[in-house]
Amino acid sequence: MTTRKADVLLKWLAKAPPGPVVELGCTRYDYESESEGFSTFYLAKQCASEGREFRSFDINPSHVRNARKILSDHGLVGTVQALPGDHAVKLVPAIAFLYLDTSDNAGDTMHQYLNANMAPGGIIVIDDCHSYGAGQFGKGTKVIEFLGLDKIRFEKTGDFIMAVIQA
Ligand SMILES: C[S@@+](CC[C@H](N)C(=O)[O-])C[C@H]1O[C@@H](n2cnc3c(N)ncnc32)[C@H](O)[C@@H]1O
Repeated sequence: MTTRKADVLLKWLAKAPPGPVVELGCTRYDYESESEGFSTFYLAKQCASEGREFRSFDINPSHVRNARKILSDHGLVGTVQALPGDHAVKLVPAIAFLYLDTSDNAGDTMHQYLNANMAPGGIIVIDDCHSYGAGQFGKGTKVIEFLGLDKIRFEKTGDFIMAVIQA
């Protein structure tokens, strides 16, 4: 049984075509928990082992500093920049794997999704798509309403649900 968010991310990353991996919403704490997936570390580590480019963006500069420290403490390579996700995602062409884990405003996730230039067959994973204050499908509410349920796979880890979309 899957119990960690990282397991879902790495499972789907393995199915992504060649190309860059982009994360919107970097790791802000120094630990992993059921809700805090420590995604920057796991994605960067896997990218390093595959020779993929890894880029992470976050609107909060102190979270960016934390994520950079995690990477350097573990000897991992990757670019972490302080930028709003809907702008940042436009900077990377032909994204192979996109992880959307920013605010609880489902409109933010929708703008990020619409602005992303995905490679054919690229994989998009949206965190926190369970029902809570962000809407019926959490952060993914607007994207899921837009695409329809038949286009989405749902993966549960503990109390948390991620949505998986193939471009
Ligand atoms: C839940 S945390 C990300 C957790 C991280 N993915 C992990 O697994 O450790 C959400 C992050 O999104 C950032 N954020 C919120 N709104 C944003 C936006 N519009 N653009 C980029 N980052 C944003 C926050 O600063 C915060 O660091």
